[in-house]
Amino acid sequence: MPTLGIIGSGNIGSAVARLAVAADIDVVIANSRGPQSLKDLIEELGPRAIAGTVEEAACAGEATVLSVPLTAYRDLPAGLLTGRTVLDTGNYYPYRDGRIAALDSEEMTTAELEQQLLPGVLLVKAFNNILAHHIPQLARPAGAPDRSALPVASDDRGAKARVADLIGRLGFEVVDAGALDESWRFEPEAGAYTRIYLADPDVPAERIMQAPAAPLPADKLQEALRTARRVKVAARTF
Ligand SMILES: NC(=O)c1ccc[n+]([C@@H]2O[C@H](COP(=O)([O-])OP(=O)(O)OC[C@H]3O[C@@H](n4cnc5c(N)ncnc54)[C@H](OP(=O)(O)O)[C@@H]3O)[C@@H](O)[C@H]2O)c1
Repeated sequence: MPTLGIIGSGNIGSAVARLAVAADIDVVIANSRGPQSLKDLIEELGPRAIAGTVEEAACAGEATVLSVPLTAYRDLPAGLLTGRTVLDTGNYYPYRDGRIAALDSEEMTTAELEQQLLPGVLLVKAFNNILAHHIPQLARPAGAPDRSALPVASDDRGAKARVADLIGRLGFEVVDAGALDESWRFEPEAGAYTRIYLADPDVPAERIMQAPAAPLPADKLQEALRTARRVKVAARTF
C-alpha cells in the first residue's frame, strides 16, 4: 500500500500517521480546518506526508483511516467514502456525542451505527480500543517478540484482510474479532478496551493518561475478547 489517507489529525489520526511514515507509507492527512492548519504536523512527519482536503485524503491510496468524533460522521460529504476500505477508529462518548438511543438500547454497536451512517463503505473497526499515547509505546516491527495485538471487526472479509495487513505494517499483530455486531467486546468499558494495554490495569481512572503501557500478546487479547461482557451502554457517563 503506497499511500494512506487519514481523515482526522487529532490524537489517534496523528499517532497512526507517525507509524505510517515510520513504515515508509506515504500519508495524505486532513482535518476539519483545512490543509493550512496542518503545517506543524506535516513538518514533524517529514517528506512522506502531505496535508490535503478531506476529499483528497478520502481517495488517497487503497484504504482510508477515519478518526473523527462520532458527531462528525453526518458532516462528511455524502458518498465521500463509498466503496472504499475504511479503518474506523470511532467510539461513542456520551459526554461528547450526546445520548444516542440506538446505542444506549444496545440494539446495535457503535460500528454498526457508523456503517449505517456510511452506506456502501467497507468499514473495519480498529484502533478504537487503545489510548492514543499507548500507540507509539507499543508499536513494534514484525517479528519482535513483544509485539502487541489489536482487534479488527468488519462485515467484509476482503476489507478486514487489507486493514489487517496495514496494521501489521504499522507495528501490531491483529486478532480477528468477528463482524461489526461483535465489536461491543472492545467498545469503551468492555473487557477488551484500553485497560488491557496498561502495565497496571487497575490504575485509577484519574491517572490513566499518564500510566505506561505494557505489551499485550494475541492470546491475551483473544481471551479478553472471549470473556468480555456486554456493557450497559445507557449507564455509561463518558
Ligand atoms: N484519544 C484516544 O485515546 C482515542 C482512543 C480510541 C478511540 N478514539 C476515538 O477515535 C476518534 C478520534 O479521536 P481523537 O482523540 O483523535 O479525536 P480528536 O483529537 O478530537 O481529533 C478529531 C479530529 O477529527 C477532525 N474532524 C472533526 N470533524 C471533522 C470533519 N467534519 N471533517 C474532517 N475532520 C474532522 C478534527 O479536525 P480539527 O483538527 O480541524 O478540529 C480532528 O483533527 C474518536 O471517535 C475517538 O472517540 C480516541
